[in-house]
Amino acid sequence: MKVPGRFITVEGGEGAGKTTQLAFMRDYLERNGLRVMATREPGGTALGEDIRTVLLSPRRDGMAATTETLLMFAARAEHLERVVRPALAAGHWVLCDRFTDATYAYQGGGRGLSFERIGLLEEWVQGDLRPDLTVLLDVSVAVGLERAGRRGAADRFERETVRFFERVRAVYLERAKRYPERYRLVNADRPIEMVRIEIQSILASWLERIGGWALALARAVVATASVTRCQPALASCVAADWPAWLGQADLCPSVGPGFVV
Ligand code: TMP
Repeated sequence: MKVPGRFITVEGGEGAGKTTQLAFMRDYLERNGLRVMATREPGGTALGEDIRTVLLSPRRDGMAATTETLLMFAARAEHLERVVRPALAAGHWVLCDRFTDATYAYQGGGRGLSFERIGLLEEWVQGDLRPDLTVLLDVSVAVGLERAGRRGAADRFERETVRFFERVRAVYLERAKRYPERYRLVNADRPIEMVRIEIQSILASWLERIGGWALALARAVVATASVTRCQPALASCVAADWPAWLGQADLCPSVGPGFVV
């Protein structure tokens, strides 16, 4: 069973500063004693990275929107099966640079593919797996493209028009409004340090919230076990070592790193 709260994605338009902020997020979670698996989409597996090369190559200019979407989901299927699901099942926190929200924004908003079609693929490939927390680094198109332009040769997406990126941004913002429980909107036009401080506070509140859930879950297990008299060892272990439920099993000898809820 997947423990809630550990699947975190980061989204944003071109030049939003994801790479820098993701490195900070990983470091922050690890400093809190959590085991983190950082990964990205499209990519994250050998096959996924090959698909990424095709998707980003300017030589593939003019690729049909349907082909592009199916390739995104092909890479995602591989990534979920080989990397994300096993990591979550092993109790890691997964920090993913882009996920299906990017498909809604780029292929849905940017290319005009129907959200219903994307939704069908989402159901098929992911089942009920959705990110628990999504940090949206919202950057205005002009600022983002100016930053991205300083990075060197533009990939196939970075060559798109300003109108394309305005549609991408609009879909991200709509989704942030539609899923306020999951999304945290961060103004990424600001300097890196200011963005970092806001992200730190988002992560701190998230950890506090997950800690609350973990404690409630542990109490429920203890209560159930004491009523049914089943698995008293598990109950006392959970009660004594509830931080392990946060993914800190390494710090918790009586539970052990292989413990999966
Ligand atoms: P990145 O350069 O931010 O890592 O992402 C690579 C590009 O892939 C980026 O321009 C956005 C695009 N993309 C999509 O169009 N749809 C998707 O589902 C994903 C994950 C990425």
